[in-house]
Amino acid sequence: MDHFLYRDGVLHAEDVSISEIAASVGTPFYVYSTATLQRHYTVFDDALAGMPHLVCYAMKANSNLAVLKLLADMGAGMDVVSVGEYMRAKAVGVPGDKIVFSGVGKTRAEMEHVLAGGIRQFNVESEPELHLLSKVAAEMGVEVPITVRVNPDVDAKTHPKIATGMSDNKFGIPISRARDVYALAASLPGIKVVGIDVHIGSQLVDLDPYRDAFLKVAELTEALRADGHEIKRLDLGGGLGIPYERSNADPPLPSDYGDIVRETVGHLDCEIEIEPGRLIAGNAGLMVSSVIFNKSGDGRDFLIVDAAMNDLIRPAMYDAHHDIVPVIEPAVGTTVAPIDIVGPVCESGDTFTKQRPMPPVADGEMIAFRSAGAYGAVMSSEYNSRPMIPEVLVDGDQFAVIRPRPTFDEMLNRDKLPEWMQD
Ligand code: LLP
Repeated sequence: MDHFLYRDGVLHAEDVSISEIAASVGTPFYVYSTATLQRHYTVFDDALAGMPHLVCYAMKANSNLAVLKLLADMGAGMDVVSVGEYMRAKAVGVPGDKIVFSGVGKTRAEMEHVLAGGIRQFNVESEPELHLLSKVAAEMGVEVPITVRVNPDVDAKTHPKIATGMSDNKFGIPISRARDVYALAASLPGIKVVGIDVHIGSQLVDLDPYRDAFLKVAELTEALRADGHEIKRLDLGGGLGIPYERSNADPPLPSDYGDIVRETVGHLDCEIEIEPGRLIAGNAGLMVSSVIFNKSGDGRDFLIVDAAMNDLIRPAMYDAHHDIVPVIEPAVGTTVAPIDIVGPVCESGDTFTKQRPMPPVADGEMIAFRSAGAYGAVMSSEYNSRPMIPEVLVDGDQFAVIRPRPTFDEMLNRDKLPEWMQD
């Protein structure tokens, strides 16, 4: 459920009309709903009720400080994958002991920064990382809590670019080698084993791979405890999918996911951490764009819009589907016709959808891409020298720009001519 509905014939974000926002900030833009973000966080938190747990929002999905602040204020922890993300968590007041640090390639500089600022745990992904972390922690005279990310070799049945739990992925340590790696961890100075981490992929719409992975983690927990390790936390990663296509959606619910967690690892007396990103932010955001031209091709019609692949790359990168709706509600009985919706960028990959049945949308009118709150703005770029588009947050009947659109001067001034070219 989200809070983007038609009211009086115009799409609204909560109580604010999209047309009003567009009149104020221009198109294209992203808009997020506070109520939806809050609802999704609560649904996840409730799904794990009865078990000690911490929902660590995977901020890679949407790391705007306003989004982070509203989740942090609800008690969320954060999953970060770079020192930049760590700084964002700190900037909105998340204490170090609610931040987990994930990622396959943490650098020495990142380790030093994070250890100085405080961290709940490192999710370690390799033996070389373990050695470096031990060295840095020992040099700094601190002991760092760690989990080892295990790769359970489970097929997450998702897009290959976002599946992470198979043996041919770069992520984690094969679960078959986990006991050796934990023995190594326990022998290293500055390292304190606290648990196990697993994350098998993103946009999972089938819960069975979770069950398979968590059962393997449960088995490993018992084995590691028998080896003498203290396993008190299980970080089960993120990845729960969202209904990108509403007409054809039967998404697994966070409550069903919670039941699987309870059923597979609930008896182990561990604190549970989860790292959802997409499910919290995805359906809490729209990208709004105006039609520049209706163009008729050879037996094909195109809607050329002012947003492009640099603003929302998911269709070009993962062939992802986003529902697209006109901002002005079509009259009942309006006929739809297939059309390609494309951006102005100079490559054919700049196609949001092909042959999508759409009601007519005239030049100058707006469309909204649904489910664009996660992996939208964060993955955008200035390709084709298109300034990054603004982000807006709505809360009830108020809205605010939470990242302004840069001016062209600001964009140009980031480049510097070397001295020898200045005359
Ligand atoms: N934890 C770890 C260790 C991760 O690698 C990820 C996502 C998450 C949590 C959050 O997963 P989520 O709950 O959001 O599915 N750009 C892609 C998605 C990449 C996901 C990468 N890792 C997309 O647009 O679909």
